[in-house]
Amino acid sequence: MNILIIGAGKMGYSIGSAWSKRESYTIYMVEKSLATRKTIKKRNKNLQVDKTLPDFWKGDIVLFAVKPQNFQKLAQVIVKKNILTKNYLSIMAGISADTIAKELMTYIPITRIMPNIGIDIALGVNCILYPKNIKKSSKKTINSLFEHLGTVHILKNEKLLNSVTAISGSGPAYVFLFLLVFENISKEIGFSKRVSKKIIYDTVRGALELTRNENNIRKLINEVTSKKGTTEEALKVLEKNNFGLYQIMKAAIFAAKNRADKLSKLN
Ligand SMILES: NC(=O)c1ccc[n+]([C@@H]2O[C@H](COP(=O)([O-])OP(=O)(O)OC[C@H]3O[C@@H](n4cnc5c(N)ncnc54)[C@H](OP(=O)(O)O)[C@@H]3O)[C@@H](O)[C@H]2O)c1
Repeated sequence: MNILIIGAGKMGYSIGSAWSKRESYTIYMVEKSLATRKTIKKRNKNLQVDKTLPDFWKGDIVLFAVKPQNFQKLAQVIVKKNILTKNYLSIMAGISADTIAKELMTYIPITRIMPNIGIDIALGVNCILYPKNIKKSSKKTINSLFEHLGTVHILKNEKLLNSVTAISGSGPAYVFLFLLVFENISKEIGFSKRVSKKIIYDTVRGALELTRNENNIRKLINEVTSKKGTTEEALKVLEKNNFGLYQIMKAAIFAAKNRADKLSKLN
């Protein structure tokens, strides 16, 4: 299968590099940034990466992995070149399939996917929205491509893509920030960076493991919280009405969703 990936930054490179390990896939990448092209050539000699789109390209899949704000210009170039593909895929946040089709002046099926950075280690969350005009066989192929990168969840409604962008797309950053804040506070309270990392990461690992057997999170919280104990004091702060973790997380996630909604309108 011939796959053209346009934009080989963080996401495009991770995807291309994972797929290039499969013998049946031939990956061709296009990346504007010279520094990124150099890094890719150093990291993975088997990946073909060029500066500009080829004048003629015929294959099965074209994947857009550029920033949303770069798409309009890219579409103008694609229209001028002779690119023949069976399917277009887009991981760009916020740009609707209709907008992509309009810019490319095409009726070729456009599938939108919202992956997350876990794809780097084949633990990504990939939410896929298929268009109505896609063939069953193409769906099967695309599902299997993304199963190489983690789990696949099929969405039925395009509006949910902006929501999922704010949850699982941006989600790893929320978790990283939580770990960073936890680590910094642990240092302030008297531990070294090394010890902070160890006790926090092991705590998180254990807590996550416990949720496998008990999906009532409130029950797990209650098990850690003794009456008049230390956890109860901390939770009074974390769950303070109108000023707790819930309100902060909600504001953050809605800000991400609003940005995705705004990007959809801009394009
Ligand atoms: N990062 C995430 O966790 C994540 C998660 C889900 C979805 N996404 C989506 O994935 C897309 C890519 O994100 P990213 O984080 O990988 O961005 P990125 O690291 O900035 O990668 C995009 C790359 O595309 C290059 N580029 C721009 N225009 C191009 C063109 N016409 N032809 C070839 N290359 C071009 C950029 O070069 P220059 O820097 O020189 O412009 C950049 O190196 C975005 O649309 C984003 O919404 C990202």
